Amino acid sequence: MATPKTAEEIRDVNTRYHTGAASHYDAKWGIDWGMVGRDQVLTKVEKALGGPLPHFGRSLEVGAGTGYFSLHLLMAGAIDQAVCTDISPGMIEALQRNADELGLDVATEVCDAEALPFADESFDLVLGHAVLHHIPNLEQGFAEFFRVLKPGGVVIFAGEPSRNGDRLAQLPKRAATTVAPAWRAALRAGRSSAGDSDGGACNHELEQHVDVHAFVPSDLEAVAGDAGFEQVNVRGEELLANWFGWTNRALEATAAPEDVPMFWRQYAFRGYLALQKVDRSLLEGRLPATIFYNLLLSARRPA
Ligand SMILES: C[S@@+](CC[C@H](N)C(=O)[O-])C[C@H]1O[C@@H](n2cnc3c(N)ncnc32)[C@H](O)[C@@H]1O
Repeated sequence: MATPKTAEEIRDVNTRYHTGAASHYDAKWGIDWGMVGRDQVLTKVEKALGGPLPHFGRSLEVGAGTGYFSLHLLMAGAIDQAVCTDISPGMIEALQRNADELGLDVATEVCDAEALPFADESFDLVLGHAVLHHIPNLEQGFAEFFRVLKPGGVVIFAGEPSRNGDRLAQLPKRAATTVAPAWRAALRAGRSSAGDSDGGACNHELEQHVDVHAFVPSDLEAVAGDAGFEQVNVRGEELLANWFGWTNRALEATAAPEDVPMFWRQYAFRGYLALQKVDRSLLEGRLPATIFYNLLLSARRPA
């Protein structure tokens, strides 16, 4: 397909791709609904804030996907009331199924982050994970986040790809592609038919067009500051964990999902968690935000 150029085309590709991916999304990304997942979410939110997690009343998540952040924050008692939105109707259906299975009450809405159908000053927290890099007009997005937040309200984003991190991640991805045939032979795994794990070959094609930004920290600081936010903080997280994660993911993507043995999946998951700890204790806070793979942002609407 031709590269989408207009904002409307980018939104359309995102809607179609994520709806196609929704039913496999949690399995593909190893989303955990137990304590491991909760610890991941709470740690990321605390890192974004640069301190302990306060209690919030009413929250709005944009690009909520299958509910990873909001549902865990609800289960942890960190928020009272969650409103979850996404541009993809398929994602919102998957989120509602997850909420029902977990016995959680959430309000949902299919909408674009740049045009939020909510009253001014109606939320205490606006949040998102791995969504800003899909939004064509970030200035308009941040103007909306500011508008719907109450004075003194907080905005938190996590999991945004940094430009350097994105470049660095190409190395392990390339290396993994080179060794993939030997890796599959060692595990006696068959080849994947392109895109099967993600909703089919058509979705595989769309996937290349859904990301529209990779950031340097100052981009995010500027867009939040220009929208009127204060106390803007951008931090970086995960370097070794991401190299390891992307290598394994690139290998796994070449194999039929049912042929990847459980011992391998456990090695990949546990290795990732162990390297996250190394990143956290040795690298984060010591190295500049710009070299990490993920960026996290927090800011406040002036009181
Ligand atoms: C990478 S997924 C992340 C989902 C979820 N936040 C998570 O962490 O699992 C990005 C999500 O953003 C949504 N999205 C993409 N463009 C959007 C837009 N313009 N407005 C709202 N949501 C959007 C997609 O449909 C998708 O569910």
